[in-house]
This record gives sequence, C-alpha cells and structure tokens, in this order.
Amino acid sequence: MPLEGKSLGYRYNKGKWVLQHMNVGVEAGEIVGLVGPSGCGKSTLAKLLAGHLQPTEGHVLLDGGPIPSGVRNPVQLVLQHPEQAVNPKWKLGRTLAESGTMDDNLLTELAIEEEWLNRYPSELSGGELQRICVARALGSGTRYLIADEMTTMLDAITQAQIWQSVLKWAERNHTSILVISHERQLVNRLCNRVVEFMR
Ligand SMILES: Nc1ncnc2c1ncn2[C@@H]1O[C@H](COP(=O)(O)OP(=O)(O)OP(=O)(O)O)[C@@H](O)[C@H]1O
Ligand SMILES: [Mg+2]
Repeated sequence: MPLEGKSLGYRYNKGKWVLQHMNVGVEAGEIVGLVGPSGCGKSTLAKLLAGHLQPTEGHVLLDGGPIPSGVRNPVQLVLQHPEQAVNPKWKLGRTLAESGTMDDNLLTELAIEEEWLNRYPSELSGGELQRICVARALGSGTRYLIADEMTTMLDAITQAQIWQSVLKWAERNHTSILVISHERQLVNRLCNRVVEFMR
C-alpha cells in the first residue's frame, strides 16, 4: 500500500480519543471512498494522512517510509470550505504561484478563468474558489489527493463538472484519490472501493 495509516490514534489536547487503532491504505492509482457518520473522525484522519496533524499513536507511511519533509507534500488535502484554505489578503494568482502549481493545462481542465487570478478570494463564488483550491492541490508532484467533502457545498451540476475534471486529471497523472463524503451515492459512483468508517 503506497499511502498507509497504520494503527492510527488521535486525541485533541489530551481529550478523548477521536481515532484508535485505525488502519487505512490507498494504492497507487486507486480512487477510494471513505464514508461514516458526522463526528466519527473522517476529517481528523484526512489531516493525519496529509501531515496537517501528527498522530498521537501510529504512523503515516508513504511507500513504507515517512512522508518526505522539505519538499512539497505528495499528499495534498482539499477541504470543504475553500475560504478557510486560502489567504484572504492574497490575490489568487499569488496563492497558486506560491504553491508552485500554476499549470496552464490544469487551469484549463478545471475551467478556471485567467481573470480570477487577479481577484481576491472574497471576489469569487464558492465553486470558483474551490476550483482554485483543487488546482493548487493537484499541482506538480501530487500523488495522493485527499478530498474531504470537497464538493459538498456545491450544486449537483458544479459538483459533477469538478469531479469529471479531477478524475480525468488523476487518471492521466496516476494520482490516487481518497474521497471523503457523507454522500454514499457520490462515493459509490466515483470510487473503486469504499471503506466504511464506524464511530
Ligand atoms: N480542533 C479540535 N479540537 C477538539 N476536538 C475536535 C477538533 N476537531 C475535531 N474535534 C472532534 O473530533 C471528533 C471528530 O471530528 P471530525 O471533524 O474528524 O469528524 P468528521 O467525521 O469529519 O465529521 P463531519 O462528517 O461532521 O465532517 C468530533 O467529536 C469533534 O468534535
Ligand atoms: Mg469532516
């Protein structure tokens, strides 16, 4: 399993255990779904896998070793609310440039208009801003995309458009995806395999 969470345990501020003895893995090229009730720890797991949180117990391994530091993380996370994921004071062109992910083909694939890059986050719709966050996450060197309720806030048509672009890009670039969602139907439609998360 190239990306693995092994016997993961997590507690926030020495509070109760949110995750315990959790094992999860994503193979290269796989699209895996993760479903489970609200509050069961899906977003916590997503942050552990992407290195945004350090596990209280257990390990996250990439190709059997720790995730390399000092380079752009090959495991990238997209959150439900894009406005929480970008610097509100930066124009979006700067956000993309700083992450080293200004790939014209990717911007075209995601139907990102050049003019948006000259705007601040508050000057885009939620769906437009989420496309920017997806482009940032899918930039060079990304091998794993963790999509945590990535399109939950969008209407069905926008949701379908974004997923179509992401799946096409992922297939072409051999990117694996972990799709975390409340929406069983979406997960069933997108994924090769679904992991059911119990509380
Ligand atoms: N920063 C935090 N500090 C303390 N507790 C937290 C923090 N973030 C999450 N929790 C708690 O951890 C548990 C798991 O939260 P998490 O966000 O991982 O759930 P989830 O499965 O993603 O839920 P949802 O489906 O509603 O997004 C919840 O009980 C939550 O209250
Ligand atoms: Mg969540």
